[in-house]
Amino acid sequence: KILVLDFGGQYNQLIARRVREHHVYAEIKPYNKITVEEICKISYKGIIFTGGPNSVYDNASPHYDPDILNLGIPILGICYGNQLMAYMEGGKIYSAENSSEYGKTSVTVSESPLLKDIPKNSICWMSHTDYIKEAPVGFSVIARTAKCPCAAMSDEKRRLYGVQFHPEVTHTQYGKVMLYNFLFRICGCSGNWKMDHFIDKAVEKYKTELAGKKVLLALSGGVDSSVAATLLYKAIGEDLTCVFVDHGLLRKNEGDFVENTFKGRFGMNFIRVNAESRFLEKLAGITEPEQKRKIIGEEFIRVFEEEAKKLGKINVLAQGTIYPDVVESGKGDSATIKSHHNVGGLPDVISFDSIVEPLADLFKDEVREVGNKLGLPKELVYRQPFPGPGLAVRVIGEITKEKLDQLREADAIFCEEIAKHSSEEMTNQYFAVLTDLHSVGVKGDARTYGYTVALRAVTTDDFMTAEWTWLPYELLESASSRITNEIEQITRVVYDITSKPPATVEWE
Ligand code: XMP
Repeated sequence: KILVLDFGGQYNQLIARRVREHHVYAEIKPYNKITVEEICKISYKGIIFTGGPNSVYDNASPHYDPDILNLGIPILGICYGNQLMAYMEGGKIYSAENSSEYGKTSVTVSESPLLKDIPKNSICWMSHTDYIKEAPVGFSVIARTAKCPCAAMSDEKRRLYGVQFHPEVTHTQYGKVMLYNFLFRICGCSGNWKMDHFIDKAVEKYKTELAGKKVLLALSGGVDSSVAATLLYKAIGEDLTCVFVDHGLLRKNEGDFVENTFKGRFGMNFIRVNAESRFLEKLAGITEPEQKRKIIGEEFIRVFEEEAKKLGKINVLAQGTIYPDVVESGKGDSATIKSHHNVGGLPDVISFDSIVEPLADLFKDEVREVGNKLGLPKELVYRQPFPGPGLAVRVIGEITKEKLDQLREADAIFCEEIAKHSSEEMTNQYFAVLTDLHSVGVKGDARTYGYTVALRAVTTDDFMTAEWTWLPYELLESASSRITNEIEQITRVVYDITSKPPATVEWE
């Protein structure tokens, strides 16, 4: 396995993930939380020093124990990790405003095992102000850019390498090859790590860590909390209880599907709280989107808390937090566009001693892989995202049971048509919205005055920005025809052709 020594950079998890993509296990440790003796005991095949926000000249900047270079373990320093190695080995680091490079940059490389199979000129991703002017004694310069006389360096004898750019970022054209070279040609890794090993290790870890404790998990039926629940169930079985709050704002048959999956298939302690009426009572007459979200969030916590109290003392709260959630919640300064509600964000209200987040190091696609390995149904593993406040933000205006039922039907028809036309692959999220707009129609020679349904389908990588999906006309036609025929109160169907920005994915 590889040690990723963390100096506070923003891409640390991404580095670990890229290493895992090569089927090598990577462990991240803060630079000051592991000693050279400990590193020596664990037989790491290689060490990666990450980037970080500091300058090596800052008084408070993180430094490593110099003995780490004497262990004989190959090291790759990235960005700050590279500068730090150069600085501590006696190289010259310069800081100048006009020498900073940010973004895609042309790089010229020379020969080195680290750069094998990489063309002389290619593009790398830079993000730095300080740079290495002179490599330390014993190191040779193995790459340059226009502004950076030492964009990569190596001491082949000691197997020490450093790169100023970020090989872990996809914009570095040959970043993957560089990591491959480091892991296999330099460190001699075997590349036989699989996601099964992650599962086995996590199960083993939680078996010991949570022995004799009562663990509670809020299960939404989304991929993350479902995978976390299944993993923990494997580790502690009966000591885990999942609480699934059915707020009556779910899609057609969704509550039963979640219940059947967990109670039926896995047989875990599973509590479904049917709280539809209390949610609808609280939402009656409310039309303002933020108010809807707040009411739902609060009520959710109250229901969950009541269930937790019934269960007696809970030692641990488990959450399906995944790595991108950790990053997002760290950004405290962005404006609130919508107060997102996620069952992952519960705590504080229930007394427990600790929180476990078994998926906190994984990315979404890795979580899906774990879900598949654990035998979760495909419908669940590849489920599109669904907002915590559910259909409440897709019924525009006041929420009533009648409106929710109509929307559930329209949404189910749209989903069926997408499946029938094999169009799931072209869109990342799709749903129906019940607008508050009445419009005149004619059905069977009679005038009607019913609701307008909007269909929405978006194509996106990260949901921060999104394009509206060019769904086939035939699909839209049959969805429209079925919705207006099968649902009496709906007279009109429109397709939302707005991207994000300026619109958001959800209507509220
Ligand atoms: P917006 O509407 O903000 O949605 O463009 C981006 C993505 O987030 C989902 N979404 C939510 N997810 N709790 C969630 O867990 C929420 O409150 C919430 N609101 C929106 C939305 O479905 C889309 O995938």
